[in-house]
Amino acid sequence: MEMDKLVSLCKRRGFLFQSSEIYGGINGFWDYGPLGVELKRNVKEAWWRDMVSGHDDLTVHDGAPSTYEMTGLDCTIIMHPQVWKCSGHYDLFHDHMVDCKESQKRYRYDQIRGRWVTAKGQKIFATTMAEASEEQSAVERSTLKFFNLRNKHLDQLQWDGDFMPLTEVEDNDMVLAPDAKTLGTLTEPREFNLMFKTIIGALSGEEGTAFLRPETAQGIFVNFKNVLDSTRVRLPFGIAQTGKSFRNEITPRNFTFRSREFEQMEIEFFCHPDQSQQWYQYWRDRRMQWYTDMGLDGERLQLREHHEDELSHYSTGTADIEYAFPFMPPGEYGELEGIAHRGDFDLRSHMEGKLDPNTNPLEVETNEHGQPKWRGSGKDLSYRDDLSGEKYVPHVIEPSAGADRATLAFLCEAYTEDEVPDEKGNMQVRTVMKFHPRLAPIKAAVFPLVKKDGMPEVAKKIYSELKPHFNVFYDEKGAVGRRYRRQDEAGTPYCITVDGQTLDDNTVTIRDRDSLVQDRIPVDQVVKEIQDRLQS
Ligand code: GAP
Repeated sequence: MEMDKLVSLCKRRGFLFQSSEIYGGINGFWDYGPLGVELKRNVKEAWWRDMVSGHDDLTVHDGAPSTYEMTGLDCTIIMHPQVWKCSGHYDLFHDHMVDCKESQKRYRYDQIRGRWVTAKGQKIFATTMAEASEEQSAVERSTLKFFNLRNKHLDQLQWDGDFMPLTEVEDNDMVLAPDAKTLGTLTEPREFNLMFKTIIGALSGEEGTAFLRPETAQGIFVNFKNVLDSTRVRLPFGIAQTGKSFRNEITPRNFTFRSREFEQMEIEFFCHPDQSQQWYQYWRDRRMQWYTDMGLDGERLQLREHHEDELSHYSTGTADIEYAFPFMPPGEYGELEGIAHRGDFDLRSHMEGKLDPNTNPLEVETNEHGQPKWRGSGKDLSYRDDLSGEKYVPHVIEPSAGADRATLAFLCEAYTEDEVPDEKGNMQVRTVMKFHPRLAPIKAAVFPLVKKDGMPEVAKKIYSELKPHFNVFYDEKGAVGRRYRRQDEAGTPYCITVDGQTLDDNTVTIRDRDSLVQDRIPVDQVVKEIQDRLQS
């Protein structure tokens, strides 16, 4: 699937728009249109229903060491600045950036890729920020320009090896930056904190400085005691939260994949340290299964365990659920969700003060006076088991997903082109969004075949009966074939048509989006039929 086609469908049919488009847009920010908002809400609702509100805490689920409870929270975006100091985001939440002294552009160091090329006896490393499918043409253009060659001299360029990240190149003097005409224009990589700053109230300067949260997780940790004290919840249990997060990404790119404002769906699962490894495995497999259940193809979806040397010593496992987005180079995957075993790092940091992740066993990081570098809350965030009497700081398993990345993966997966006959029997290319029915923005559309003979009245009655149950759409404008195509592009799984026969025998046709099979069913069974089909 070509990404351009999806991007254009998303705009044309109202899934996604560039934010503030009439003013030229703003990089890294996206708006969901009338269909997109329904799709994303369905993704978040499916997650919440399957992980939280629909969770049966009396049954031991497949792969789980025991029963467990799930509960939710909705925390503020702006929190006490100390939260981010103790969490480590203030000191450590950095990306490396490089600036180009010639073009004045700024890039994320690890996102620049390039290829070695020789011409006129000189070897250079030509780089680009273009997407995988455009990389080669981008470096060809810049290299020809650099060597002062024309298009017809393309065969004078001798390429050496495949594309590779700039991070693997040592000699900056040989590097042609993505938008430069001369060599060696990139600065050394520098750290850049990704948190957005804001000012609270009328205070200016450090005193009033606060941050937009870069993750929803910390709101859960700092409310751990509130949840324990206000509910009868017992360990093991999870607290879930969905909501906006903000990261000042250096180079937002790939449609919504890397945005500056996005939504997360996070769970912090608290358990006894002795059981944490089993819970880690449970959550890893459970979350992978969820994406499969929601329709992502096994071929494009993978679970990647981090190697031991990638893990912090306090963690016994991290896995990423990844999807082969069409804009990635062949064989590469993009992260949809991370599932991390975080030990007791977060609760202890908020209790004792920011821990130094490099100490073993974990110790509070100190300043030059031997005091905690960032003081914790001093509140006791341990848990006392009322049955055994044991008191301990729980360990945490964190399945952390992105609602926008999941939505983008569902959009990519759904995009399909096939061939169907038109009214005259000629085969035509059809674009159809094959969303899982739970995620489809519109569940059914109701059409009168023609706008006369009492058909609209019957169709409107069916629409009104369906509407309290599902998001349905009524359409009587234009040829019925065109109306089907519009619903196919919106991903509507079922179309119900009132035709001449309806007036004789009170039946309607119900058309399946994917198989195109049309069945006839009695008018008074339409609600039940749609209900059954959506649940199957
Ligand atoms: N609390 C852990 C945490 O935030 P993360 O891997 O940084 O972990 C979790 O983020 C998920 O949030 C990612 O797997 C991704 O789905 C989503 N995400 C992170 N940065 C994003 C961005 N700039 N744009 C869109 N989604 C993003």
